Amino acid sequence: MDAKTFDYLYYKTHGYTDEQIRQESGMSADELELMDSALKHILAEIEAERPKAKNIGPDFVKLTRYVYADKSDQQLGMPRPDAIKARSGELVALPAVGTLDFKDISLQETIAKRRSLREYSDESLSLEELSFLLYCGSWARDFRSNERMEITFRNVPSAGSRHPIECFLDVHRVNGIKNGLYYYHPIKHCLILIEEGAGIQQKIFEGCLRQEMVGKAAVNFIYTAVPYRTCWRYGQRGYRYLYLDAGHIGQNLHLASEAIGGGCCMIGAFLDEGLNAALDLDGYEEFVIYVAAIGKRK
Ligand SMILES: Cc1cc2nc3c(=O)[nH]c(=O)nc-3n(C[C@H](O)[C@H](O)[C@H](O)COP(=O)(O)O)c2cc1C
Repeated sequence: MDAKTFDYLYYKTHGYTDEQIRQESGMSADELELMDSALKHILAEIEAERPKAKNIGPDFVKLTRYVYADKSDQQLGMPRPDAIKARSGELVALPAVGTLDFKDISLQETIAKRRSLREYSDESLSLEELSFLLYCGSWARDFRSNERMEITFRNVPSAGSRHPIECFLDVHRVNGIKNGLYYYHPIKHCLILIEEGAGIQQKIFEGCLRQEMVGKAAVNFIYTAVPYRTCWRYGQRGYRYLYLDAGHIGQNLHLASEAIGGGCCMIGAFLDEGLNAALDLDGYEEFVIYVAAIGKRK
């Protein structure tokens, strides 16, 4: 979904008059009329579902209690999902994990220094530093696969070690690699170039509601969730675990970015439609769950 479509749907569902929509969005009367007819069905669907949204939080917490659960797909003997999603593109090697020679900083000091950082210097990250950040949050130290189960073990915990969180990078300033969108392969410890250039970066910036730090960061980590990897084992309760798993990754990333003389700001305020579209995700089988802007300290 593009930004204009999102704006139209948002304004319409929030009671703006046509006149106000034209003022806010800069759309012409003709454009608005076109949208009225093209988006009629989507608008009707949103309006019909909005009452459900009113109490979705408490309902979610209640209805994912064990007493409400059916047998999970794993308990029903359904085929196991893969631990990693296949992605294609140009492979980019990363320095091996553990090669970074950085100033030792104690865990206590790292924790004490951690703050959200939203202003960065123009300095680039080295590939070793990037490799270290990926090692801390996403790298798979072990991978086991058989017919019944496929599983990775990482430096962050995950319910059932399902590790449903995948990592993309929006690279702006990393020495030795082109700018653009990459996927991180946690077993091969390499990057896969998904899309090069400024076009994709602009979409990500807009998807993150034009928050300045996203444009200024050396790299933005974009985490996606693949819910079935966890829900195959835990049913709908698995959705609780996606967000918990993402939180662990975020904190490791925060501490790791402090340790390299940088800083990080986690981002939960983003347009789901815009970011999912930028990463070519359907928003159900896989969706953006968390973003982190990272750069060196000024
Ligand atoms: C789940 C989550 C979402 C957040 N989303 C944003 C965001 O979209 N934009 C932003 O500037 N900061 C965001 N933050 C950072 C918080 O604003 C920040 O952690 C908080 O103000 C406390 O400051 P501190 O991290 O420096 O201790 C987010 C933090 C978390 C944990």
